[in-house]
Amino acid sequence: MLSLAACGDTSSNTASSEAAASSQQQAEQSSAESKAVQPQSDSDRSSEQDKTAPDSTSQPDTSATDTSGDKDTIVIYFSATGTTKGVAQRIASAANADTYEIVPQEKYTDADLDWNDKSSRSTVEMNDPDSRPKIAGDLPDISAYKRVFIGYPIWWGDAPRIMSTFVESVKLDGKTVIPFCTSGGSPIGRSGENLKNASGSGNWLSGERLDSGISEQEAKNWVDSFK
Ligand SMILES: Cc1cc2nc3c(=O)[nH]c(=O)nc-3n(C[C@H](O)[C@H](O)[C@H](O)COP(=O)(O)O)c2cc1C
Repeated sequence: MLSLAACGDTSSNTASSEAAASSQQQAEQSSAESKAVQPQSDSDRSSEQDKTAPDSTSQPDTSATDTSGDKDTIVIYFSATGTTKGVAQRIASAANADTYEIVPQEKYTDADLDWNDKSSRSTVEMNDPDSRPKIAGDLPDISAYKRVFIGYPIWWGDAPRIMSTFVESVKLDGKTVIPFCTSGGSPIGRSGENLKNASGSGNWLSGERLDSGISEQEAKNWVDSFK
């Protein structure tokens, strides 16, 4: 059973172990009560949890978008707290790709991202498969790209609903689509397949969870594995 305590910032967590255990229990309770969330295996989250800790200072901003359009690959990503953004930038550099950041019309606050709160925005969205948070600004013109990497954090075992908003809003016909995610330890699971189904277009390859500390060389090896 997934323990969302795994996603917390243990490096700066000053709460007592008792309080931590209680919040873990709440997270487990909340996941057990939820229909939409899919608790994931907790096999691989040891040290990763510190690196993926939410960081409210690194909210996405549209300046990350670079769609000059003269390349055949684009890396499209959503990142609430900056982890996926860092990985996306390394992939873009390795793939010599343009980038587009999916920025929510209403940015996620720390309270919105509180998985212990059953009424927090992220919990409410993930419990509603039909939730489609709005995207700020214009969608990218991706017609010229042959290959599209799509990155996101795992939320309750799945891709955040704003990813569904995105894949339902663009045409991916004829393109190779490669999903990737970051997480506190959960694997990519069915999230890529779920997005593929929501999208209804594109040649989706099975993606992968990437480590937040992925090196330039590792990113290059991963990108090159799709050539
Ligand atoms: C609402 C919420 C739910 C999460 N659910 C999971 C989960 O089910 N499994 C997991 O391993 N990590 C989970 N995490 C942790 C994030 O996937 C992880 O911190 C990710 O790297 C954050 O990426 P970002 O900084 O790009 O937003 C969750 C985080 C949030 C905010």
